[in-house]
Amino acid sequence: MKSFASYLRVVVLVAIAVAGTEYLMETPPGEWAILEYPFAGVFIGIVLVFAIAVEASIASLRNVLYLSLTEEGKERYHAAEKAKISKFEQKWENLMQSMTQSKEIEEEHEIILDHDYDGIKELDNRLPPWWLYGFYATIVFGIIYLVRFHVIGDYTQAEEYEREVAIAQEEIEAYLATAEDLINVDNVTFLEDKDDLKAGEKVFTANCVACHRADGGGGIGPNLTDEYWILGGGIKNVFKVISEGGRTGKGMVSWKSDLTAKEMQQVASYVLTLQENDPADGKAPEGDLWEGEE
Ligand code: HEC
Repeated sequence: MKSFASYLRVVVLVAIAVAGTEYLMETPPGEWAILEYPFAGVFIGIVLVFAIAVEASIASLRNVLYLSLTEEGKERYHAAEKAKISKFEQKWENLMQSMTQSKEIEEEHEIILDHDYDGIKELDNRLPPWWLYGFYATIVFGIIYLVRFHVIGDYTQAEEYEREVAIAQEEIEAYLATAEDLINVDNVTFLEDKDDLKAGEKVFTANCVACHRADGGGGIGPNLTDEYWILGGGIKNVFKVISEGGRTGKGMVSWKSDLTAKEMQQVASYVLTLQENDPADGKAPEGDLWEGEE
């Protein structure tokens, strides 16, 4: 009878609860407290259940009171209700009526069936159209699905998976290409750019010369100008040593917490350019001759 107002009250109450929760619980901008904190979600759920329970209780109370009225009283009640209902509410009522095709409680005697089991009676209600058409829709969906995937064989789940993984892979590569600080041992490349090598030289001068000397001739650390490498030559190995450190106890620490990935790539590239140097008093070669790529 007053269903529209009931729905509205429930929605408004829940909206207030959500707004209040978001206001009181501090979350980083762009994030929702009800999604971040399970408790907040539970709280909103409780408010929702409570609001529905209250509305349901009020509705059944009304029904009980209604049934206790005399025939004359019922009529007067209807007249009063009609006068109160707005146009909008009337439209809503009509919509709900067409979706459910339900009978008002006072008309139920029209659809009551003959059986009577110790006072328990049965109504011959129509199937609610919202449910019925939903059911038809599942049948249509089922037929299209069956034909498409089991008769024609459009694509399999495995193919769908492969396709999505391939798309994701492309996106990751596109992202990595632009995100400088996501350089790692697997994708690091030698930087030829002058500015990068200059930046690498700066890092080297600030952090590495104490052990490797400005010209790379070596001291506490090995000579970086010869073709012999203890831990492997080439950009990937050099990057890895700078990032993760050398063998424990040798003195070459991991730099990944002090330098960004980009800086490590720059200094690694710079280290490889030291190969051009030929310091007179450089340390004797250590390790193996590196014959891999640059
Ligand atoms: C405290 C001294 C010290 C500092 C500072 C230092 N290194 Fe080292 N470095 C070493 C030692 C010692 C080794 C040999 C490690 C081993 O044998 O495992 C080494 C090894 C290396 C290697 C591998 C050489 C090879 O033959 O495989 C590279 C490349 C390197 N360092 C680069 C750097 C860079 C770049 C920096 C500055 C960011 C740096 N090092 C700072 C002591 C140092």
